[in-house]
Amino acid sequence: TAARLADQYGRVARDLRVSVTDRCNLRCRYCMPAEGLPWLAKPEMLTDDELVRLVSIFVGLGVEQVRLTGGEPLLRRSVTEVVARIAALKPRPRIAMTTNGVGLARLAAPLAAAGLDRVNVSLDTIDPQEFADLTRRDRLADVEAGLAGARDAGLVPVKVNAVAMRGINDHSVADLLAWCLERGYELRFIEQMPLDAQHGWDASTMIGADEIRSRLSERFTLTPLPAADRGSAPAERFLVDGGPSSVGIIASVSAPFCGACDRTRLTADGQVRNCLFSQRETDLRGPMRDGASDDELADLITGEMWRKAKGHGIADPDFVQPIRPMSAIGG
Ligand code: GTP
Ligand code: 5AD
Ligand code: SF4
Repeated sequence: TAARLADQYGRVARDLRVSVTDRCNLRCRYCMPAEGLPWLAKPEMLTDDELVRLVSIFVGLGVEQVRLTGGEPLLRRSVTEVVARIAALKPRPRIAMTTNGVGLARLAAPLAAAGLDRVNVSLDTIDPQEFADLTRRDRLADVEAGLAGARDAGLVPVKVNAVAMRGINDHSVADLLAWCLERGYELRFIEQMPLDAQHGWDASTMIGADEIRSRLSERFTLTPLPAADRGSAPAERFLVDGGPSSVGIIASVSAPFCGACDRTRLTADGQVRNCLFSQRETDLRGPMRDGASDDELADLITGEMWRKAKGHGIADPDFVQPIRPMSAIGG
């Protein structure tokens, strides 16, 4: 089943990102409004059986890594069970998770036991005031405990994802790096993308990769790692003060990496998306509930992947943000 998830530009998807819920217990300003969003209703969501069946079809089509995302994936009550069932698939994919870390102190050990291999935790600042301002919740201590829990449970390398927002946490990026270096977490800064539900993104105020680099360079010496070692990874990495630790910058907007993309996505309501920024999706839930076979569902998936656009087009004058916000796609 080699290269079944190919597109017209020769890219092949080997990394499946599954949103297991669109809900979240934080309200990050770059993501959703204070009042939250109209969440998916239970009957619209894939059941565990449906979700695991679709993941197994993707694995049959060449997917080698499954990343569980949200919303906040730990809010799905069955998340540990879902990990265990994905870990039982043959061939077994690598299993990762992107979480805000709030519930991780309690769940890291059971998740590792169920087969989770590693986690990326979103943490934008270690200043309690900035954290509360940015996420609109007072949960910094929970995230710090979650990170330590992940490291102690062996979910390594533990990566930290940070989005810098002007006037909130842009002056403390070097403090965050120092904090992560002390604890052995691999920090990556992410350029904010136009995927927030409120449509508040603005190219002119976005903190770009260059600005992050120059702010970090006030305190640290950054040496770029060879671009040849990057593969399909979104992050450009830099050795910090000669190494061995590194810091990453995910410059989705100023230096797009779409040409090397190896990702495909499944939403919590069973739609396959060929890109974060896709204007279309293919429904798998309806056909599945109407009795479609695995082969029929596989054909729907390969058809959608073939239509994948060359790039996200954020810089194009006619760019339109997708209807589904980041929190319902899974990042
Ligand atoms: P690693 O395998 O650990 O490097 O994971 P990752 O960086 O691919 O995943 P993570 O969920 O931590 O995502 C970090 C940031 O990269 C998030 O802001 C994602 O939205 C962004 N990202 C991941 N995949 C894509 C993609 O295909 N396109 C774009 N533009 N951004 C992406
Ligand atoms: N732009 C860039 N990154 C974002 N994230 C959430 N919203 C955005 C956005 N608009 C980050 C989260 C998480 C990862 C999946 O994406 O903080 O770390
Ligand atoms: Fe929740 Fe992630 Fe959105 Fe923050 S970015 S509100 S943690 S889904």
